[in-house]
Amino acid sequence: MSTITVTDREGVTQEIEASEGMSLMEIVRDAGFPIEAICGGQCACATCHCLIDETWTDKLPAADSDEIELAETSDYFEPGRSRLTCQINFEASMDGLKLTIAPEE
Ligand code: FES
Repeated sequence: MSTITVTDREGVTQEIEASEGMSLMEIVRDAGFPIEAICGGQCACATCHCLIDETWTDKLPAADSDEIELAETSDYFEPGRSRLTCQINFEASMDGLKLTIAPEE
């Protein structure tokens, strides 16, 4: 079983199960974290914005230009760390990934 570690907006950290074939957004949302994902994963809302732990940023598939442009609209955009989690499909190689839910806009 793979897991990821999620820190919420209050700073509380929790390890949750992660399944291949799901997006990080779905994994985090389905675990009950307050991630809105208004557009349902269509890379159109940025409400699935998370900040990836620095130790993991180079290990994830690179963001495409659409994802970067949308993430940059966030007041809390951090180059390199900001990702729209609906655009990342979980793979076994991401076991142990750590991320923090970005502050609400
Ligand atoms: S859920 Fe809307 S951009 Fe990710």
